[in-house]
Amino acid sequence: MQTEVLIAVKNLIKIYGKGTLAVKVLDVKSLEVRRGELVALTGPSGCGKTTLLNLLGALDSPTTGDILFEGKIFALKNEASLCRFRREKIGFIFQSYHLIPTLSVLKNVLTPALPLGKGYRRHALELLELVGLAGKEDRRPGMLSGGEQQRVAIARALLLEPEVILADEPTGNLDSATGAGIMDLLKKLNQQGKTVLVATHDQRVAKECDRNIRMVDGRII
Ligand SMILES: Nc1ncnc2c1ncn2[C@@H]1O[C@H](COP(=O)(O)OP(=O)(O)O)[C@@H](O)[C@H]1O
Ligand SMILES: [Mg+2]
Repeated sequence: MQTEVLIAVKNLIKIYGKGTLAVKVLDVKSLEVRRGELVALTGPSGCGKTTLLNLLGALDSPTTGDILFEGKIFALKNEASLCRFRREKIGFIFQSYHLIPTLSVLKNVLTPALPLGKGYRRHALELLELVGLAGKEDRRPGMLSGGEQQRVAIARALLLEPEVILADEPTGNLDSATGAGIMDLLKKLNQQGKTVLVATHDQRVAKECDRNIRMVDGRII
């Protein structure tokens, strides 16, 4: 039995700039990601990986075209519903972690739950244990190594139990051994059922994934 298509893309175009300055940076006719897949989005710097990931996660909107999530088209007009969609369905991980330096590790993990009120502390501590950071909940991000900071970011991405993890160059700031540890963690999450999409120009990361989607000049080849 085929698993369900979680994300589908139809004729997605992203143009930056207007008039004579307009540049088409993304032109994806079709793309499907099924529930439970571990997919690498690969290609050279500037090919459009981040642009595509940001569109899939509703951090940005396409110039034209549709993205379907669980068979439904994003309601792009309504910022409140987009915000809820991102919070409930998507976990983001970035190359440079994007942690808040003045907050403890635990409070960083809890930030996605801030609009929802209390009751997530126990789950956050469980997630810190899952990512190998038990006992470090009271530290500040600056006291941690890069790999540990990325683990905090992964725990944060998991807090509200998203359907999919979108990771943009998650190992890009890390040495190869630390990066391999982060990839092992993403693979473990995938084996537990999470759908994971990793944008990377690192072939070592890509070959750990079930499927590679290769991009060149804004297109999938
Ligand atoms: N806000 C923007 N305005 C104009 N051009 C942009 C913007 N963001 C990205 N680009 C351009 O879009 C192309 C794709 O960029 P990006 O998606 O970041 O590629 P990748 O993540 O594969 O390195 C690049 O040519 C980049 O310069
Ligand atoms: Mg990028």
